[in-house]
Order: sequence, then structure tokens, then C-alpha cells
Amino acid sequence: MPKFCRVCEKPLSEFMSFGEMPIANSFINIQEKKNQYLYEMLAAFCENCFTFQLLNVPKPKQMFNENYAYLASTSKEMQEHWGDLANKITDEFNFDKKSFIVEIGSNDGIFLKHISEKKISHLGVDASSNVNEIAEAKGVNTLNAFFNSKTASDIVTNFGKADIIFSSNTMHHIEDINEVVKGMDLLLKDDGTIITEDPSLKEMIIKNSYDQIYAEHMYIWSLHSISSLFGRYKMEVYRIENNERHGGCSRYFICRKGKKKIDQTVVEYMQVEKTLKLNNIKTFLNFKKNVSNSKKILRDLLFNFKKNGKKIVGYGAPAKSTTILNYCDIDSSLIEKIFDNSSTKVGKYTPGKSMIPIEHTDSFISYKSDYTLLFAWNHKDEILKKEKNYKNKWIIPIPKIEII
Ligand code: TYD
Ligand code: ZN
Repeated sequence: MPKFCRVCEKPLSEFMSFGEMPIANSFINIQEKKNQYLYEMLAAFCENCFTFQLLNVPKPKQMFNENYAYLASTSKEMQEHWGDLANKITDEFNFDKKSFIVEIGSNDGIFLKHISEKKISHLGVDASSNVNEIAEAKGVNTLNAFFNSKTASDIVTNFGKADIIFSSNTMHHIEDINEVVKGMDLLLKDDGTIITEDPSLKEMIIKNSYDQIYAEHMYIWSLHSISSLFGRYKMEVYRIENNERHGGCSRYFICRKGKKKIDQTVVEYMQVEKTLKLNNIKTFLNFKKNVSNSKKILRDLLFNFKKNGKKIVGYGAPAKSTTILNYCDIDSSLIEKIFDNSSTKVGKYTPGKSMIPIEHTDSFISYKSDYTLLFAWNHKDEILKKEKNYKNKWIIPIPKIEII
């Protein structure tokens, strides 16, 4: 039975199985080991609209609920990043008393906090009630809901249409992505702007960062695929900016067709993606080979250290670590524990088969390990600076497996 693209409904080309996976952010208690939700993580590419997507994803409620573990504000770098964007857009868009900003997937208020401090009307929508409570405590107005066309109509009725609809690391979360864009279409003022920032397919292919792929990242967007998606609703990308956050993200600025001048950045980036053949299934078959090589190298390395009696731990338990651990079959016999600073993860275990205990980063130095696998490799600079007293070796898993 062919599977069909969630964006354009044409048949998909399935190219890789990562085996059985738990939900990446579902860090668990030991007694929950046996009742985990597991699914076969299958990756596919649509040769019609160029969307990279996962098949078989869990239901939204299983991923986004009152136990959601990802807290955006655990990184100082990310706090600065979203603070900078808030300043930039207030400079660029000349907001007045009637202006209204909506964020989809507002998490712990890391971005809207700055908008709220500037006294601009705003609303954050997030399906996980625990993160909404944290955001509310920072003075951010939130709505506990999944964003879809019904939620969008309710917002329009109660607050009016939006000048800016912002979402970061959310467009890849939502299975019924057409419902999201339908909702944005209803909610956006005629001359409004949608700004969305997500991990970039180009960076994933270049860095071989397969750990970007997990249920909550069921799409990895590119300029080609985002343009196909929004094109269905007579919208277009008019500017693109790229940054190194989360291992490489693209920020798309989107308007209704013809409302804004298309920036040179869009023309150039389209060409870059074509040169890299991000519109060709062969690229993904090649990616599959590179990913499986990376697994072999990492496993050989860890087994070798272990054979020589070395003590190996992990640093950072990002959602990304769930993909590496489960795909590479790494458990607590190889990596004894992982240190992380998120209150939602400490005391729990990494999900799936891996079941590695998570402890607070405060006890990292005193544990005296020989090697530390840096799962949060995208925060390398911040973490290596913070842990400068660690005298032993770091294993960096991505983009290239290296020991420093
Ligand atoms: P991150 O890469 O932000 O997210 P994702 O889950 O989307 O892959 O996750 C980084 C993890 O690393 C997060 O669990 C917090 C942890 N961390 C630390 O423990 N110490 C630090 O100094 C930083 C920056 C992150
Ligand atoms: Zn498609």
C-alpha cells in the first residue's frame, strides 16, 4: 500500500527505517519501562512537493501534554536568540496599539516574554499545560490548545486578526500541517507576516545530523517544501535567514502572494538547495548510507573504550539523544548516565530500550568519567565553556564523530 504525502497527497518514496523508537521527549520513570509507546520510525520523501516526512507518527496527545519535557529557556544562548528576534521585529514592523502577535507553540514564553515586556498585544498558543503555566508566570498571555483552523477562528473572534504569526520549532511537530496553514490563513491580516523557524533540511544533509529526526520532528523543512506548503494557500516566502541554532535552522518570512518584494536571499537559497539536490530522492538514499556508517563508527568507538575499562557518560539529554541511543542500540551498559540541567528530565531515564539514568549537571565534574558523549552537540561552545574544569575527553557525535 503506498503512503501519501501529508502536504500534497501524492504517493511518497519511503527510504529508511530507523527501527523501533519511543517518543523522543518522553523521559520516563523506571516503572514505566514496559508501557512505553513505541513506533517504527520510517522516513520518506515526496518527489512532488519535496517534503521530508516521517510515517507512523504517534498521536499529538501522546507527544504534547502536561508532561512535556522540553523547556526552551534551559539555554542562555537560546534566550538571547529569541530576545534578539523580538527586538528586530519591533524595529522592522512599526507596531502600534492595534498590533497583535500570535505565537504557535509558545513553550515557556522564551520569545513572547520580550514582546510582553514591550507592552505589545500578544497570545501564545501551546498544547502542553505545564509549559503554559511557566509562560504565564513571566507575564505571557497563553491559550492551552492545539493550533488549527477552529482555534484560529476562536482567536479572530476574541482578539482579532494578527499582524505577525510566529512559530519556532513547531511546524515540524504537527501531523495535520494543512490545518495549521489553514488556521494561519484565517488568522493573518491581509498585509501580515508569518515568521517560522525550523531545523533546515540542507543543514541536516550536510552535517549528517540524523538525530534531528524523531516523532516530534516529523517534517524537516526546506525552502522548496515550505514554499510548496504555503503556495497551496496563496502565500510565499519573501525572505530567508539562516542560523546555527539547534544545529542549523532556517527562518522563513512569509506573506500573501504579491504583497512583498521577494528578497534576493530567497532566489539564492533556492539555487543552493537545487545544487545540493534537495529535490532529488538520490540525496536521501545517500543520506541513509552516511547515517548507517555513523552508527557503526560510534558503536565501535564506545565498545572499544568500554573494553579498555573506560567510564563513559553523556552530557545533555536532548530529544536528539533519543534517536541516537535507540538507533545505535546504546544503553546503560555503554553509557552509565547522562547529565542534564532540565528539571523535567533529572531523576528520569532516557526512553525506549536505552534506559540511561539522568542526573543534574551539578554532579558532572565530581563523577570523574573518562569520556563524555556530548548529545547536546549544538550547544558545544556554551557547554565546553561552562565545564572547562572537565579534564578528560569529549566525544562529539555530529557532524563528524570526533574526540576532543
Ligand atoms: P536542545 O538541543 O536545546 O533541544 P532538543 O531537545 O530539541 O534536541 O537540548 C539541549 C539539552 O541539553 C537540554 O536537555 C538541556 C541540556 N543542556 C544542559 O544540560 N546544559 C547546558 O548548558 C545546555 C546549553 C543544555
Ligand atoms: Zn508532497
